[in-house]
Amino acid sequence: MSRHREPSSPHPGAVFEHTGRSEGTATDDRAASPLRLGLLGCSPIARRRMLPAIGLLDTVRLSGVAAREIERAKDVAAELGTVASGYDEILGRDDVDAVYISLPNGLHYEWAGNALRAGKHVLCEKPLATTRENAVELTELAASRGLVLRENFSFEHHSQHTKVRQLLAEGRFGIPRTFTGSFCIPPLPPDDTRYNAALGGGALLDIGVYPLRAAQLLLGPDLTVTGATLRVDERLAVDLAGQVQLVSADGVFAQLEFGIQHSYGSRYSLWGSAASVSLDRAFTPPPSRQPVLRITEQDHAEEIVLPPSDQFRNSVEAFVAATGPVVDAAAERPWLDRAVTTARLIDEIRKKAVRVGARDEGDG
Ligand SMILES: NC(=O)c1ccc[n+]([C@@H]2O[C@H](COP(=O)([O-])OP(=O)(O)OC[C@H]3O[C@@H](n4cnc5c(N)ncnc54)[C@H](OP(=O)(O)O)[C@@H]3O)[C@@H](O)[C@H]2O)c1
Repeated sequence: MSRHREPSSPHPGAVFEHTGRSEGTATDDRAASPLRLGLLGCSPIARRRMLPAIGLLDTVRLSGVAAREIERAKDVAAELGTVASGYDEILGRDDVDAVYISLPNGLHYEWAGNALRAGKHVLCEKPLATTRENAVELTELAASRGLVLRENFSFEHHSQHTKVRQLLAEGRFGIPRTFTGSFCIPPLPPDDTRYNAALGGGALLDIGVYPLRAAQLLLGPDLTVTGATLRVDERLAVDLAGQVQLVSADGVFAQLEFGIQHSYGSRYSLWGSAASVSLDRAFTPPPSRQPVLRITEQDHAEEIVLPPSDQFRNSVEAFVAATGPVVDAAAERPWLDRAVTTARLIDEIRKKAVRVGARDEGDG
């Protein structure tokens, strides 16, 4: 087995290509006039990943936090040295240019819509919407108002996937045959929003969307769901795990596995006619991790060690750059289309899925 290291790059870049805009110029403008970002919801992910990412960038500054309960917003605002608001109130503020929405999955559609109608750019946690119809409505709203709407699949902004795509484009794996993607986590506390159907709970919307989006990333948008199985907790009416099969327009197979009742695992592999590549910690690697791509051929195995990359920082940086000073509608269109494709596939999975009951073993 051989092992080599890639030189570290200070500019890891987004995985999906941008078109026709100068990020350098936009960044310079933003440094002079940072984007004023408000948090809609003081969620665990906002505190754990978004706030540290904002702290690393001089192109964006926190201009407020909104929580359901104003007392809680005040506590967080005091801690962060910013202004407390309610959800509606923050959308009415003139000193807020954009909002980061990290509410439970079933509330994204309502609040992303409210934010866009209030004239704010929106960085919304994944999934943007729970149906294709809602995703189309939101993306058309953003486009018609000239606002940036990005779905925060932060993993897309990790340079490890840029490398996989580069090798794929160079033919390193030959003709792609099969993509396999898995994301599973252990059970969550019983009061977690993932167990609440009214809040868009369930493993598909929360965890399954990662390998689904990775299949889009590597195989393109023309995917068809050929089969699916969901394990459903009938008492809670949420799915706890699932498997999905898809096929691309070129005939490449994809197999997805996800769940919230497993030991932790986050990985994918792409198997082609010449070689396969596999990647562990594919979706939520910590910023300090040096990713390892494992390439296997019949008589050869190789590991490529990549430089660390902070996917949350990269995602926020790309969002901020996209907001101005002028929004490039053509450059935003692919991001909007990707969100609609993901939502279409969610619809297809739900429609095709065979549902099995969850065994009564404390599954949630
Ligand atoms: N990109 C990533 O790597 C990543 C990782 C994890 C999660 N996520 C996404 O981030 C979002 C937030 O997930 P999370 O686990 O951090 O938080 P969460 O438990 O889903 O709660 C998010 C926040 O929503 C607000 N909220 C509004 N209505 C609520 C209700 N009825 N019940 C509970 N909370 C309510 C609460 O904030 P206030 O009380 O302050 O209003 C709460 O802190 C989800 O969309 C998830 O898919 C993304």
